Amino acid sequence: MRYSDDIIEEVRMKNDIVDVVSQYVKLNKRGSTYFGLCPFHNEKTPSFSVTPAKQMYYCFGCGAGGNVFNFVMEYENYTFGEALKHLADRAGVQLPKIEYSGEAKKKAERRAALLEINKLAAGYFYYQLRRESGRQAHEYLTGRGLSEETIRKFGLGYSDKYSDDLYKYLKSKNYSDELLRDSGLFNVDERRGMYDKFWNRVIFPIMDVNNRVIGFGGRVMGDGKPKYLNSPETTIFDKSRNLYGLNVARTTRKNYLILCEGYMDVISMHQAGFTNAVASLGTALTSGHASLLKRYTQEVLLLYDSDDAGVRAALRAIPILREAGVSSRVVNLKPHKDPDEFIKALGAEEFEKRLEQAMDSFMFRVHMAEREFPMEEPQGQNRFFERCAQMLLELSDELERNLYIEAIVKDYRSSGISVENLKKRVGALAMKGTPAEQRIQPKPVGAGQQKKKESAAEKAQKLMLTWLVTYPGIFDTVEKYIQPSDFVVPLYRQVAEMLYQQHRDGDVNPARLMNAFIDSEEQREVSSLFNATIHLETPEEQNRAFSDAVIRIKDESLKERNRTWDPTDIQGLQELVKAKKELEELGRKRQQLHISFE
Ligand code: UTP
Ligand code: MN
Repeated sequence: MRYSDDIIEEVRMKNDIVDVVSQYVKLNKRGSTYFGLCPFHNEKTPSFSVTPAKQMYYCFGCGAGGNVFNFVMEYENYTFGEALKHLADRAGVQLPKIEYSGEAKKKAERRAALLEINKLAAGYFYYQLRRESGRQAHEYLTGRGLSEETIRKFGLGYSDKYSDDLYKYLKSKNYSDELLRDSGLFNVDERRGMYDKFWNRVIFPIMDVNNRVIGFGGRVMGDGKPKYLNSPETTIFDKSRNLYGLNVARTTRKNYLILCEGYMDVISMHQAGFTNAVASLGTALTSGHASLLKRYTQEVLLLYDSDDAGVRAALRAIPILREAGVSSRVVNLKPHKDPDEFIKALGAEEFEKRLEQAMDSFMFRVHMAEREFPMEEPQGQNRFFERCAQMLLELSDELERNLYIEAIVKDYRSSGISVENLKKRVGALAMKGTPAEQRIQPKPVGAGQQKKKESAAEKAQKLMLTWLVTYPGIFDTVEKYIQPSDFVVPLYRQVAEMLYQQHRDGDVNPARLMNAFIDSEEQREVSSLFNATIHLETPEEQNRAFSDAVIRIKDESLKERNRTWDPTDIQGLQELVKAKKELEELGRKRQQLHISFE
């Protein structure tokens, strides 16, 4: 499904970015730019900018940036299609009807029907809870300390003691058996036919981040087994990509999210004011969950049950989160079993303290490893420190590693371990090489928050792109020296080609260009290309920065061509030689490379 570029651009132009962003962020004007507190990360001084001339936003703190579509997508967690629709409505633009292909249309309709069925079922359960026959269920929930408001907020319900009334209800709405079977709300067997899956249970509707009901959990009221029944995975319910409570938690904009085990934990934390709590859906944490979390936060507090299973779950979750670029800390709730119990016993204030005391996840691993060794024996201690050295070796950043060495020494000073000794062990282990299967692969560049440092040549390319969109008047000068092919970073080259084309068409328009980038990582990078900064005051400084950038870009481009030159390509060689001469020439007359930024 794809709308034409023209209609996309029309919607963009009719939604002024300052107007749209102002609905969410308080902006103040400084010169030609607006500034405010970034809605995408936690900050106290404004580094979030909106530039009307470019119709773009950019945060100098966290690197979030883009045009008005990107803003709405990131803020509301919309897909591009949803953002387009939202902004079209806002500006009163009528979107043309999309013709799906037969197959895609069927699929979309099926998903929509399943969502509708879940919504109706949620309403039905909600209603049952409030009837006389739902009284026991209602009392069960209030007996567990939930307020009316909480029950309403989470849309809790009750599935009554008839085994077919939800089925009858949905049949009365004319859904086919085939569709109802796919909803996961019913069991089918030969003898009884189709009947309700949830029977005499309190019901927890599960919502996705857009507040659509995608499944249910149902708890027995008392000690029956199984304690919880859950909807199976369906076309609309993927347990490894959804988290209970995230629809609410994502809007709290705290700088961390709390990850716990159960529905009741989430609900009691939210009731106690910790509305940034989420839970996985009866499954272990997956990398799908981790990347979902990464969209909303940099840090997760792990709040698993205080038993061995909880410790194992935390130890499993830590590397999965780390892999996705999310750091974590582990909260200790002892002597209480889980957040629900803890809050009931000690209250929200004590709970908050425990959150503040959460242990760094690396140190958590260290302390858990300690349990595996007989620490009262010298041999046990020795092996434990060897294990520490192994773990330290996983850390590729030297500063980080040194900080943890110090932290370990501080915690285990009574064992006589010193910083030098631990460093020596790490060094010796590194020399020996860890067995491949134990080595943690360093993260691939670009996948996650650990950005590689940008080279001077990259910076020059970025600056040039920023100048070109900010001062289109310099295009004619720049074109004499630099062609899109001189931008050696592939994404930069693609952007340069688009900009040069826009220049030829007489409309340099970065916000429009952004329409072509749908992937959110790419959006970030492209918007950083239009927001490179360098502090320049005098015209001399400008000229020098400009000629530096031109020469850097040319130089890098030449190097790249050298690297990829095919020795049998004689013409290519001649071109290379010529380019090299030109570059030398350029270096000699750099004084003449004048430019005016206005
Ligand atoms: P818990 O047993 O810790 O339940 O399971 P809970 O959420 O704390 O609920 P209460 O306080 O005992 O009522 C944690 C989570 O594991 C899944 C559910 O998602 C539950 O919230 N689970 C547990 C199941 O799916 N089935 C079960 O039988 C038990
Ligand atoms: Mn529990």
